[in-house]
Amino acid sequence: MKIAIITGASSGIGREFVKQIDCTEKLDEIWVIARRGERLEELKSIIKTRIRAISLDLTDEHSDEELSYLLSDTSPDVRVLVNAAGYGKFGEFENLSLPEQEGMVRLNIQALTKITYRVLPYMSNGARIYQVGSMSAFMPVPFISVYAATKAYVVSFSRSLNRELRGRGIRVMAVCPGWVRTEFFDRAVVNDDVVVYYNKFYTPEQVVSLAIKDMKKGKQVSVYGASVKLFVFLMKIMPHKFAMWVWCKQQKK
Ligand SMILES: NC(=O)c1ccc[n+]([C@@H]2O[C@H](COP(=O)([O-])OP(=O)(O)OC[C@H]3O[C@@H](n4cnc5c(N)ncnc54)[C@H](OP(=O)(O)O)[C@@H]3O)[C@@H](O)[C@H]2O)c1
Repeated sequence: MKIAIITGASSGIGREFVKQIDCTEKLDEIWVIARRGERLEELKSIIKTRIRAISLDLTDEHSDEELSYLLSDTSPDVRVLVNAAGYGKFGEFENLSLPEQEGMVRLNIQALTKITYRVLPYMSNGARIYQVGSMSAFMPVPFISVYAATKAYVVSFSRSLNRELRGRGIRVMAVCPGWVRTEFFDRAVVNDDVVVYYNKFYTPEQVVSLAIKDMKKGKQVSVYGASVKLFVFLMKIMPHKFAMWVWCKQQKK
């Protein structure tokens, strides 16, 4: 049974991956994972491929056992894995609660790593892994410090794993969006600690469509938008101390 597994499928970028993979891949099932089961069930009415809705809180340690059991029970051929589940909390490190900070590490890093580890034995030549990072991965970001650090992990992990898996013909790519109009900000923005400049928003459709094209081209990192591409380039040549100074000036800190 050929399948795709997509986390964070109940909204935003993950949900868009479900829609576009439905149109571009010949699969028997798409396994969709998130906490809100009713949102996952809704996908059944708009997606042609059979949907298996798996309602899981990926920060809960039992979620790993449940996914492992499902995989060993069905022994699928996983053609595509998308790790899109993730969240950010913007604000001063000391002002955000510890559970909120730890939650980002548990979801954005630990869950993503565990799922990749569990799924890899079920992948073969030609399989692809999309790890959703962020443009914040490319510099240390004061006042978004833990979130940005989790995304730096995602990019580093994806690039090295992509190299490791070359011999097996499995590709891994980090998808690094700038601001994208999703429910992300309902959770991220808690107070006025961080001024978010909403001048340039992209859509999940744009980000995912380019990611699928970039994967076909064999890219390691997919970045949508001229200004985000410029930012990523600048972060390769600009001292990060200076970049942080500019960011803090913008934040009036
Ligand atoms: N939006 C942006 O500007 C932006 C920019 C750069 C990177 N990103 C990254 O893109 C990814 C997708 O975010 P988005 O913008 O699409 O935001 P979103 O609409 O809020 O989607 C987040 C997804 O993660 C799932 N999720 C959250 N906590 C979970 C948990 N504990 N267990 C299982 N699933 C969980 C949510 O589902 P449930 O709530 O149903 O569990 C939802 O499906 C994230 O990794 C985010 O960091 C977003």
